[in-house]
Amino acid sequence: MADALVIDGLTKDYKVGFWRPRPYRALDGLTLSVAPGEVYGFLGPNGAGKTTTLKLLMQLVSPTSGRIEILGRPPGDVSVKRRIGFLPENPYFYDYLTAEELLRYFAGLFGYRGADADARVTRLLDELKLGAERRMALRKFSKGMIQRVGIAQALINDPELIVLDEPMSGLDPLGRRDVRELILRLRNEGRTVFFSSHILSDAEALCSRVGIVARGRLVASGAVSDLVPFGVKGWEAVVEGLDAAARAQLSPAPRALHPIAADRCALDYPADVTPQAIVEAITRAGGRLVSLSPLRDTLEDFFVSHVNAADWERLGPQ
Ligand SMILES: Nc1ncnc2c1ncn2[C@@H]1O[C@H](COP(=O)(O)OP(=O)(O)OP(=O)(O)O)[C@@H](O)[C@H]1O
Ligand SMILES: [Mg+2]
Repeated sequence: MADALVIDGLTKDYKVGFWRPRPYRALDGLTLSVAPGEVYGFLGPNGAGKTTTLKLLMQLVSPTSGRIEILGRPPGDVSVKRRIGFLPENPYFYDYLTAEELLRYFAGLFGYRGADADARVTRLLDELKLGAERRMALRKFSKGMIQRVGIAQALINDPELIVLDEPMSGLDPLGRRDVRELILRLRNEGRTVFFSSHILSDAEALCSRVGIVARGRLVASGAVSDLVPFGVKGWEAVVEGLDAAARAQLSPAPRALHPIAADRCALDYPADVTPQAIVEAITRAGGRLVSLSPLRDTLEDFFVSHVNAADWERLGPQ
């Protein structure tokens, strides 16, 4: 099946400076593709070029060079516009409408009327947990509530491809969980989701593949399981009841010890010490084990090392 999204050599120069405008390359030869039914996380530090890419997909800015194909067609194609949904980075809506009125308006733009439009609006507002406040003017909405309206707006036309710029932005932990579940629901329905994010744990939990962009270039991409090795890097044991002398007697000795509270500390053991040996060492020293967890590389470790490497490449060796 053809890719849902193809980005090929996409480059964007912004003109900066008033008197002597010169180009600033925000995006430099970005190439990636997203298969139908995939949830793709587009990650990168501030200023990396994520929003620029999403605006180029939506034709809100025009590319300097490169090619985009959405659902097998050029992005300007009217038939494509009906099949995609978009959440901008900072959604801003007409303040005097209520959430319900706004969504009914967007439903109308896609040709839904009457009971069909009402049912769509109600279902999305329910799903995004906007209760009685749906009848309140949007100017009274908090940032997180506006974000939920923005996501509902992006889904009003049952899009096949959903492009979301920082969908978790401004949401509290419950809101983030709701949006995570919503993205999984969209995936289970066979839709394609392309979203930018800074929240790496969300990307790790949701995405089949991720791409990391830094300084306008793709610095890494692939399945999260390929980027982040699943091997255990070590063990962290949280223990209680060990005084300084007992801590010094632990055998095998941990490679590091971090005090947490008066009677509690975390012991860091290397991967080659077995969990049994750790439990026995703690018991022999007279301590109580509170928890024992494997230490693994996370997407965050991977992200930090690749973004730093991109910085290093730009600066060059000193
Ligand atoms: N209209 C513009 N004119 C000039 N430069 C711009 C313009 N829009 C963005 N830029 C620059 O392009 C670069 C990429 O910006 P972009 O908004 O795409 O980053 P981002 O990855 O979305 O960052 P964030 O995580 O902060 O949202 C930045 O250096 C930014 O200053
Ligand atoms: Mg952005």
